[in-house]
Amino acid sequence: MNIILMGLPGAGKGTQASEIVKKFPIPHISTGDMFRKAIKEETDLGKEAKSYMDRGELVPDEVTVGIVKERISEDDAKKGFLLDGFPRTIDQAEALNDIMKQLDRDIDAVINIEVPEEELMNRLTGRRICPKCGTTYHLVFNPPKEDGVCDLDGEKLYQREDDNPETVANRLNVNVKQSKPILSFYDEKGLLKNIDGSKDINKVTEDVISILDDLK
Ligand code: AP5
Ligand code: MG
Repeated sequence: MNIILMGLPGAGKGTQASEIVKKFPIPHISTGDMFRKAIKEETDLGKEAKSYMDRGELVPDEVTVGIVKERISEDDAKKGFLLDGFPRTIDQAEALNDIMKQLDRDIDAVINIEVPEEELMNRLTGRRICPKCGTTYHLVFNPPKEDGVCDLDGEKLYQREDDNPETVANRLNVNVKQSKPILSFYDEKGLLKNIDGSKDINKVTEDVISILDDLK
C-alpha cells in the first residue's frame, strides 16, 4: 500500500500517520521529520534545510526529491509507505511519478485532510511535542495528562521552532499556493480522497482508516 497524506500545515498529517502505522505496518516517511533529524545531527543536509525551514519556505526540490527517492527504495518501504509532507510542488509530484515508474509501483491513494485555514494558526502555535518519542499534543485540543510532560515517558515537551506566529503565517501562504495544483494532479488520476479534518482526532482517524480498509 503506497499512500500519500496531504494537508496544510497543522491539518493533522503527523497525528493521523502515527495512528495509521499502528494498524498498517508501513513506514511513516515525513520529509519534515527527516529534515529536523538532519538539523539535530548537524549534517550538510540539515545545514541546508534549516535556513528554509526557519523562514517557513520550502527546501529546494532537488534536495527533497533526492532524500525521498533514497528512502522509498529502502527495504522496509518495499511493502508500502505512508508519505507525509511530500510531494509539495508539482515538480516533486512529477518526480515521484518517475520514481514509482522506475520501481514498477503505483500510488494507491492520496488522502487530503481538509481543515479551514483559520483553524490552523491555533493548532500550530498550541502544538507541543515529546523530544523522546515524538508524540504530538496540543495545549487545548489534545493536552497531556500533566502540563508540559509526555504521557508515555515523562519527558518535558517542546515547541517546534517554526511554530511561532510569523513563520506559521508564511508556511500557510506557501502551502496554500503550492497545494492546489497537486490536488488537481492527483484528482485527475482518480486517486484523491478528501476527508474532513476539522472533526475530533479520533473521528478523523476512523475516516482515514475506513478509506485504507477499502483499498486492501
Ligand atoms: P512539516 O514537518 O511537514 O510541517 P507542515 O507541513 O507544516 O505540517 P505540520 O507537521 O506542521 O502539521 P501536521 O499536518 O503534521 O499536523 P499535526 O498532526 O502535527 O514540514 C516542515 C518544513 O520542512 C516545511 O515548512 C519545509 O520547510 C520543509 N519541508 C517538508 N517537506 C518538504 C517538501 N516536500 N518540500 C520542501 N520542503 C519541505 O497537528 C498539528 C496540531 O494540531 C497538533 O498540536 C495536534 O495535536 C493538533 N491536531 C491534530 N489533529 C487535530 C484535530 N482533528 N482536532 C484538533 N487538533 C488537532
Ligand atoms: Mg507533521
